[in-house]
Amino acid sequence: MLNFSHNPVLLNECTEGLDIKPDGIYIDGTIGGGGHGAAIAEKLDTNGLLIGIDRDEAAISAAKIRLQKFHNTKLIKSNHDNIRQVLEDLKIEAADGFLLDLGVSSHQLDSKDRGFSYRWDAPLDMRMDTCENITAYDIINGYSEGELVKILFEYGEERYAKKIVKKIIAARPVKTTLQLVSIIESALPYTPPAYGHPAMRTFQAIRIVVNKELILLGKTIKNMVELLKPKGRICIISFHSLEDRIVKTSFKKMADPCECPKSMPYCVCGKQPEIKIISRKPIRPGADETAENPRSKSAKLRIAEKLSN
Ligand SMILES: C[S@@+](CC[C@H](N)C(=O)[O-])C[C@H]1O[C@@H](n2cnc3c(N)ncnc32)[C@H](O)[C@@H]1O
Repeated sequence: MLNFSHNPVLLNECTEGLDIKPDGIYIDGTIGGGGHGAAIAEKLDTNGLLIGIDRDEAAISAAKIRLQKFHNTKLIKSNHDNIRQVLEDLKIEAADGFLLDLGVSSHQLDSKDRGFSYRWDAPLDMRMDTCENITAYDIINGYSEGELVKILFEYGEERYAKKIVKKIIAARPVKTTLQLVSIIESALPYTPPAYGHPAMRTFQAIRIVVNKELILLGKTIKNMVELLKPKGRICIISFHSLEDRIVKTSFKKMADPCECPKSMPYCVCGKQPEIKIISRKPIRPGADETAENPRSKSAKLRIAEKLSN
């Protein structure tokens, strides 16, 4: 596991965004290989604490090695959607900062047997947590035509969803990633290079469903904000528009919760802002970072701070 390869994206922007206090409690809800985690732990003194959460056992093992030189870290295999339970078990009431670096790690994409990548052949799996039951195989081979079209449209924003799904249904059972790739390629007309790899959108859509990536994200962000200490920060990196939309609207709702009609001269609903948004526009990686790490290209970082009221 020593070769867990993942370049942490927007690293300095995240540590600055978290405004780290040396004695604070910081939660990295997507610890992965511990790249961001190590940068946070570096800034803590012996009273500080970094809690790293990941639902992938391989990530937890890698982070254990990466973070072994720091004594103020705890690693927990869990889903960050269970953040309330995780903190309750640790008897922690509130934290000084949360970080979410959403989506899939380079390590997961590059693990040849896990089925995340359209670049090499593997069984259709795509589970981040290998203890979960539903795999990509179950979805590709078990869902109805209508369900699959909806998934590809909604989670892949794939304009050729209907054509792809027709071919999938005709080819069932589809067993491996490269079998799926050739089905997708046979369904697509010529696509310009800007459209990306022909299988990119379908793979993203199926991965989102296998891992239930978006269903609880808004609720989790709300829970994390509730668990922040006053002036605590939350930093979230997203990699596609669906994730970013959830982060943006969640922050907006908590920063400006007033439901009164615009025509009202003053607020009567009484809903108070819980956060202030630190990054009005999402922070994007610079040219140097995208040249060095092309996977960072689509990253967007949003930062918010808990208000003290
Ligand atoms: C982009 S990687 C994070 C990489 C990490 N920041 C680093 O520097 O190495 C995302 C990680 O989040 C994990 N993950 C995704 N959704 C999760 C969830 N709901 N709960 C816990 N971990 C999750 C994935 O398993 C993956 O390891």
